[in-house]
Amino acid sequence: MTVQRKVVLFAFIHSFLFTVALCRHSRTDIVDDQGTEVETQSLNGKWILRNNNGSFNLPAEVPGCVHTALQKQNLIQDPYYRFNDLDYRWISLENWTYSLTFTVPHATRRMKRVVLVFDGVDTVSTITLNGVTIGTTNNMFRSYEFAVGGLLVANDNILVVSFMSAVTYAAQRDHAHSAYKVPPACPPLVQKGECHVNFIRKAQCSFSWDWGPSFPTQGLRGVELQAFNFIRLQSSTASTVWDSSLSCWNVEVELSFDVVVATDGCFTLVLPELKLFQKFQLSIKPDQPRQSLHLQIPSNVSVDLWWPNGHGQQTQYLLFMEGRTESRVTFHTETKVAFRTVELVQEPIPSSPGLSFYFQVNGRLIFLKGSNWIPAHAFQDLVTPDTLRNLLQSAVDANMNALRVWGGGVYEQDTFYSLCDELGIMVWQDFMFACALYPTEQDFIETVREEVVQQVRRLKSHPSIIVWSGNNENEAAIATDWFGIPVAERPRYVKDYVTLYVENIRAIVKKEDSTRPFLVSSPTNGAESEKEGFVAHNPYDPHYGDTHFYSYLSDCWDWRQFPRTRFASEYGFQSWPSFSTLSKVSKPDDWDYSSSFSEHRQHHELGNSQMLLQAALHYILPNSTDALKLYRDSLYITQVMQAQCIKMQTEFYRRSRSEIINGEGNTMGALYWQLNDIWQGPSWSSIEFGGKWKMLHHLAVDFFSPVLAVGFEENETLKIYGVSDLSTDLNLTVTVTVYQWSSLTPVCTLVSDPCMLKGGVAMLMIQYSVPALLRDCGKCSRHSCLVTFDLRESANPNSQHGPTSHLFLTSLKDSGLLPVNIKASVERDGDVFAFTLQCDVVAVFVWLDVEDIAGRFESNGFLLLSQKRTVRFHPWRPTTVEELLKKLHITSLRDVY
Ligand SMILES: *[C@@H]1O[C@H](CO)[C@@H](O)[C@H](O)[C@H]1NC(C)=O
Ligand SMILES: *[C@@H]1O[C@H](CO)[C@@H](O)[C@H](O)[C@H]1NC(C)=O
Ligand SMILES: *[C@@H]1O[C@H](CO)[C@@H](O)[C@H](O)[C@H]1NC(C)=O
Ligand SMILES: *[C@@H]1O[C@H](CO)[C@@H](O)[C@H](O)[C@H]1NC(C)=O
Ligand SMILES: *[C@@H]1O[C@H](CO)[C@@H](O)[C@H](O)[C@H]1NC(C)=O
Ligand SMILES: *[C@@H]1O[C@H](CO)[C@@H](O)[C@H](O)[C@H]1NC(C)=O
Repeated sequence: MTVQRKVVLFAFIHSFLFTVALCRHSRTDIVDDQGTEVETQSLNGKWILRNNNGSFNLPAEVPGCVHTALQKQNLIQDPYYRFNDLDYRWISLENWTYSLTFTVPHATRRMKRVVLVFDGVDTVSTITLNGVTIGTTNNMFRSYEFAVGGLLVANDNILVVSFMSAVTYAAQRDHAHSAYKVPPACPPLVQKGECHVNFIRKAQCSFSWDWGPSFPTQGLRGVELQAFNFIRLQSSTASTVWDSSLSCWNVEVELSFDVVVATDGCFTLVLPELKLFQKFQLSIKPDQPRQSLHLQIPSNVSVDLWWPNGHGQQTQYLLFMEGRTESRVTFHTETKVAFRTVELVQEPIPSSPGLSFYFQVNGRLIFLKGSNWIPAHAFQDLVTPDTLRNLLQSAVDANMNALRVWGGGVYEQDTFYSLCDELGIMVWQDFMFACALYPTEQDFIETVREEVVQQVRRLKSHPSIIVWSGNNENEAAIATDWFGIPVAERPRYVKDYVTLYVENIRAIVKKEDSTRPFLVSSPTNGAESEKEGFVAHNPYDPHYGDTHFYSYLSDCWDWRQFPRTRFASEYGFQSWPSFSTLSKVSKPDDWDYSSSFSEHRQHHELGNSQMLLQAALHYILPNSTDALKLYRDSLYITQVMQAQCIKMQTEFYRRSRSEIINGEGNTMGALYWQLNDIWQGPSWSSIEFGGKWKMLHHLAVDFFSPVLAVGFEENETLKIYGVSDLSTDLNLTVTVTVYQWSSLTPVCTLVSDPCMLKGGVAMLMIQYSVPALLRDCGKCSRHSCLVTFDLRESANPNSQHGPTSHLFLTSLKDSGLLPVNIKASVERDGDVFAFTLQCDVVAVFVWLDVEDIAGRFESNGFLLLSQKRTVRFHPWRPTTVEELLKKLHITSLRDVY
């Protein structure tokens, strides 16, 4: 916001708000010495933490958890170091107790209602105050409030949160559920995790996942005492609703009050940037604690819409709510609202069985480009706003516009969604259920209901969230029988499924939020699944809904094996993080691709060999006789494999957006699995724990580029598609350049006739017979040459749209790739460093690494086709040319054998 705009805003608020906020003068029958406002006292800070038998007794920070408290007191090492996840398993099997001694001012204690507000309790606990049980908890995804009036004493008050091990609790709940089993009982052994996580409302991945450790910790988010005599505002949610019949926007503010004494109140909503305000008279009674305020935006006031990244601005408007009751309680909230509509379009498509599946924001079709989000740390108290910003900015910098917050993790903190609003990242928000069947006992359903209500109210004001989704893969788990359930017993599980996700979760979401679509699962056939009773015969059907697709051993360079789905919401390949990231949690004995450490960190059955088998289809595997180089090269080759595989697959999805072939196509989303990591280990991520980009993330910048040339071969024909996410048409030519591996001078260059690439379309721009192209270029064979291509404005060949793409005409292991000797020099340029690379033959997958000097190269993992190329490096901490040169490793594909 500019200074000038701020001044205008302030003047507006000043002149309107404070002079008009009061509708009437307050009555005077309120005794003056009774406090009218809510007294809040934070109980965050230093608590005492004890284990079962008292052998541990230590200070512990709230917000915080047991593991971080123990580590902070140096009672344990970094839990992520080597095998510590197993060595520290005992921590999660203990029952820990957090306690706090605190005093409360007399005036606060005297107030009519005193409430303890727990922002989050992870997970199973009994809470006592001065020896009296005030409540129990069993769900980390909701907040809790307990009335404690009358229990507070003049001197020291003792608040004790006695946790029970989440692992013990889950086992007990499973045991108690004796009528029938709710699978899976335990994770696969390779995950080294705990059992029965589906019986506890806790991050499902905290009991281990195929990319992460088992750390089912115990802990507390914020704790606060709130005391008041009359009324307290518990929550407020602002949202915007498009009224299509009146063609106007409404701003809706929902308020939840905790009411001691019924009162009338006067409230004002102010949208200062739109110079709008409206007053409301409310009558607030204890039995009607929820109220809503509607402000209609007059049709002669124009609002700027919120758009996803790449499609326009992310405009948000300040919204103030001021209120005052007759009991002279005042309220003030300050939030942001944004105006955008979202629809999920599922309708018949000509020439195809099935239904379309695409998102339309503000009436515009949007291809969702991005990835899947998992928790950024096993210990959520260690996730800082900086961590989130770095990861989300990395997504935007790779031209992403969407992330799916996956259902096995957590509903993210507010900052996450605010950043997504600001950056234009559309969020596909799962509810936190994943890869399992779930029980439906009364108390389980009740706690889930409260969780869903709270989360929807907390999150619905965020324009970034475009869809709610009930669970991850649970429809598929039943439909394709992951858990060996006898056919005769299936109806019971389908019934539980419908009870939980449809009759409860969906019903609540529909009631609480009419502004975005709801899907019951992912993957799902969407409307077709609903027709089939919510569990479709084949939820992976490419003619409907979204698809998850993994195939680790089939050749990822062969696009024919990918499903031509309507929407690819998960697909991926594993890789290892870089040596500098791994060396923080390992020691020299571990630095071998088949060490016990390498085995231990791999949580996906056969994952380490799958990576090499896939890599070996196209690359010569590293074979250095230097053990450390061999290890580093092996990490490198897994990143090359992953980056190229996901590039191939994503380009296939993007070029399929406008076509129907054999009834399949019109793909409108590509979200690869997965963006980020929870620890330092092999996984499907494109960003390492700590924020370092893998090669995949660097390639994503190009393959998610708004305008892209995609080349592929079909029956010996090179086809080049243009893909555009723009809303304007481009008159383009395709420039095809053929190189020999041995030379940086092109063998030949062909320029196509001008061709119109329409906005929001993928289309074939040009095609060549490969044998003819090679013959006509002369001196070329599939083994000796490679092809590059790009899109340029036909009226101005210097104006290129999108990156220069390339296609290998044969596996690189069979190609004439020559040994290279890349020379590098580094120069400081202000806060950044310019690396200049020189070489005289073509080099592929050129990778610059400066070990633990955190920062980001502007480009990496690239094809080096010029004698000189400069790549800038942005360090995140002070460094020098000398340090950079000392730590620089340059690796290209030809350097590993
Ligand atoms: C107390 O519990 C800890 C952790 O489970 C255990 O290592 C220790 O042996 C126990 N001490 C006693 C005295 O029981
Ligand atoms: C933790 O508490 C539960 C429930 O009281 C009990 O069954 C379990 O044995 C306790 N665990 C330990 C390690 O004492
Ligand atoms: C919109 O119309 C109302 C009533 O007709 C008028 O008072 C107001 O000034 C108009 N606002 C703008 C921005 O034109
Ligand atoms: C490519 O060849 C296959 C097998 O001969 C054939 O089925 C297919 O139709 C061909 N594709 C095109 C686009 O010509
Ligand atoms: C595209 O550009 C070419 C060359 O500048 C021009 O001849 C042609 O008319 C343009 N085509 C369209 C449809 O604008
Ligand atoms: C590594 O493999 C390459 C290619 O097969 C071969 O030329 C080279 O001799 C091998 N090096 C070692 C040390 O085995």
